[in-house]
Amino acid sequence: VATIQTFNGDGVDSENTALVVESPNLSIKPVTIGTNDKNHITLAGLDLVDLADNYGTPLWVMDEQTIKQAIQAVKAGLDDYPDARVAYAGKAFLCSAMCHLLKELQVGLDVVSEGELYTATQAQFPADMLLLHGNNKSPREIEDALNYGDVRIVVDSRSELEMVAAIARKLGRKARIFLRMIPGIEPDTHPHIRTGQDLSKFGIAIEELDSLIPYIKRFNLELDLIGLHAHIGSGVSQLDPFLKLPGVMTELLKKLKDQHEIVLPELDLGGGMSITFTEKDKPVGLYEWSREIAHATMSSLSKHGLVAPRLWLEPGKAIVGTSGITLYRVGHIKNLTDGSVCIAVDGGMADNPRPITYQADYLVEIANRANAQTSSTRAQLVGRFCEQGDVLIKETYIPAKTGDVVAVYGTGCYNYSQSSNYNRVATPACVLVSNGKADIIIERQTKEDLLSKDRVPDRFLKSQQKSSE
Ligand SMILES: Cc1ncc(COP(=O)(O)O)c(C=O)c1O
Repeated sequence: VATIQTFNGDGVDSENTALVVESPNLSIKPVTIGTNDKNHITLAGLDLVDLADNYGTPLWVMDEQTIKQAIQAVKAGLDDYPDARVAYAGKAFLCSAMCHLLKELQVGLDVVSEGELYTATQAQFPADMLLLHGNNKSPREIEDALNYGDVRIVVDSRSELEMVAAIARKLGRKARIFLRMIPGIEPDTHPHIRTGQDLSKFGIAIEELDSLIPYIKRFNLELDLIGLHAHIGSGVSQLDPFLKLPGVMTELLKKLKDQHEIVLPELDLGGGMSITFTEKDKPVGLYEWSREIAHATMSSLSKHGLVAPRLWLEPGKAIVGTSGITLYRVGHIKNLTDGSVCIAVDGGMADNPRPITYQADYLVEIANRANAQTSSTRAQLVGRFCEQGDVLIKETYIPAKTGDVVAVYGTGCYNYSQSSNYNRVATPACVLVSNGKADIIIERQTKEDLLSKDRVPDRFLKSQQKSSE
C-alpha cells in the first residue's frame, strides 16, 4: 500500500502511526504534477510542452502513478473486510495497455461490450477477474464471455436470464451470474448517470427477485447464481447513498437465505465515487469511501447473522479521472461585445463530450507559463467543433495567447471512452507517463483511418467514369 509520511486527514491506517493512504480523487491534479525551471508544467517529470510538441495536440496524457495510487487507496480501505476485490469499470477508460496495468495490479475489470471484452481477452486478462455488464447484452457478447471462461455475467433482466441459460445450454457451460438489482437509492448526481432509483433502465426490481429464483433453480445445470449486484450511479460525491446500499442488499441476501435456502458467496456494490474536477467538488476520498462501505457492509451482515460474502467494488471515474490531462494548443482568441473573450483550442466536444453532455466543469492552466497571473478578463475555453454548445470551460481567467499549450485537468475518465469523430476530426493520441518516460498507448487517428471503413457504391464510380469520358 502506498503510504506517505504526512497526515492530511484522509486515511489514517493504524492507531499509532500517521501513515496515510493518499486518495488522488481529493486533488484536481495528478500526483506527479510539478513545474520545471522553464516555468512549464510537468507530469511524472516530463515537460507537458515537450509532450505537446512531440506528440501533437490535442493529447490525452495519463499519469500511471495516479492510477496506481487510486487503486491502492480503494484496496487499502477494504483491508478490514475478510474477502474483497476491486474491479475497475472499464467504461471510464479502456485500452490494451490499461488491461495490462490492471493485470499487474491484480485488479478485476468490468466490461460492457464485445469490444471491451475483446480488449481484455486479447490482453489475456484472467477470466475470473472479469465481469460482463450491460442492460442489453447481445447473444454474441454472452457467448464470447462464456467461451472465454469463468467470466461473471451480471444479469440485468428476466429475459436476459433466459437468454444466458439458453446460451449456456447450447455451449454446454454453466454461467456464473450476478443479478443486478435496483436498490431504490437516488444519489444526488446528474440524472443521466443516476442508476439506482426505481424505474431505472438498469437492473431488476426488488419485487421481481422472488419470481426469478425458481427459474434459476430449475436451470441449475446452466446457471450458477453467485451474487447480487447494485450500482447507484456515477459522479456521486456524498457517502450517504453508498452507506444505505449495504443495508438494502444484505436484506435481500437474508431473504434469499431464509425464504429460498440460498446463501450467496458474493456481493457487488458497484462504483460511483466522484473526483475533484474543480475546487467546488468535494468528493469523499477513495480510501474512506471503500473503508466506510466495507464497515457498513460488515455491520449489516452481522445484524442479519450472515457470513460475509466476497465483496466487490467497481470504481471507474475515480481510478482514472484524476490521472488524465488533455493538452490543447490555443488558436484564435476572439473579443466578444460584452468584454469577455473566447479562447479557441484545437479539440473540444469530440475528445471531451462531458461538458456538453453533463454540463461538466474543469480547471485549465497554461502549460508553458505555469506562474501566469490570472487575468481580470472573463474567458470561455471553446472547442473547434460545429456546435454552439462545444464549450469546454464556461468561465476561466487564464491569460492565454495564441500558440500557448493549455492543460485541462481531470480528463482521464469518460473522455477517450466517449470520444467521437464528429466533424470527421481524428481522435487524439494518448500517452501514459511514468518516471520520466512517455509511452504512446493509443495512436492518434489519421485521415486515412477516417476513410478506412468508407465504401463507395459502384454506380457512383461508374457514373463518374462516364462523365469524365
Ligand atoms: C455497473 C457499473 N459499475 C461501475 C460503474 C462505474 O462508475 P464510476 O465510473 O462512476 O465509478 C458504472 C458506471 O456507469 C456502472 O454502470
